Amino acid sequence: IDAHLDIFAEIERLKKEKNAIILAHYYQEPDIQDVADYIGDSLGLAQKARETDASIIVFAGVHFMAETAKILNPSKKVLLPDLKAGCSLADSAPAGPFKAFRDKHPDHIVISYINCTAEIKALSDIICTSGNAEKIIESVPKDQPIIFAPDKNLGAYLAKKTGREMVLWNGACMVHEIFSLEKITKLKVRHPQAKIIAHPECEEAVLAVADYIGSTTQLLKYSQTDSSKEYIVATETGILHQMQQASPDKTFIPAPPNNNCACNDCPHMKLNTLEKLYLCMMYEQPEIHMDETLRLAAKKPMDRMLEISK
Ligand code: 13P
Ligand code: SF4
Repeated sequence: IDAHLDIFAEIERLKKEKNAIILAHYYQEPDIQDVADYIGDSLGLAQKARETDASIIVFAGVHFMAETAKILNPSKKVLLPDLKAGCSLADSAPAGPFKAFRDKHPDHIVISYINCTAEIKALSDIICTSGNAEKIIESVPKDQPIIFAPDKNLGAYLAKKTGREMVLWNGACMVHEIFSLEKITKLKVRHPQAKIIAHPECEEAVLAVADYIGSTTQLLKYSQTDSSKEYIVATETGILHQMQQASPDKTFIPAPPNNNCACNDCPHMKLNTLEKLYLCMMYEQPEIHMDETLRLAAKKPMDRMLEISK
């Protein structure tokens, strides 16, 4: 790409020319968030992807999110700037072993977190996100046993919160498992007024010290409505861009990881760059394609979720 090219202006031009919409997750780099038409958490992005009448959905997020957009809106062309943008959580649940696990508990209903492949969605009864998981679990009759997959941390948190016993799949997010309780505690000593806010994909010990727990959208809203001036944020660092923009007078400190690298950046989310976004809009690829039988099977539990979380 010519270094003199104004990529921001070019992306705006391509949006109009191609009737394209850019949907971005909060974990994308700030430049991508700034050119997006909609920025959201997994639930908001799925809802937006379903209702858009744009011809092209450019998904600035990871593969399972773009795949979810295709499941919900198959007549649209769905593009992902880097097809290799995966997810450690989705990778932790391969379809074969998961089917065997499910078959061992035939009387259980399967609730799967949206961070999973279309194959896992197709093997599930209801999908949930971190924003609506409690509501989804509570929609299931109390005497109905539940399998929750693939995130064991979110599952354990929800089991405690709802009082429901759930059989958990042993998966986790590499970004949310990296926070150091010891370093968070030391940080809190230096910033005693700071509120600790955390995503429920974090480990139990971190969640135990959090003042507020929620999805990325819920954390952002909390940071806007709460009266504190300082926050220690235990989730991926991309969200700080919107928090800081919405509340310029507040201080947001990323919760430190248990080593000295910037491991609370999601390496999958961060594979997308503004340049790749521009090229993918220009050439209309990489594109998400899906087998129709798989798509319909994966759509069923997604529709159930969207109906419950209306
Ligand atoms: P939410 O977007 O639901 O907050 O989930 C965060 C996440 O890890 C997405 O990959
Ligand atoms: Fe997956 Fe975790 Fe990255 Fe989200 S932050 S895409 S759950 S690896």
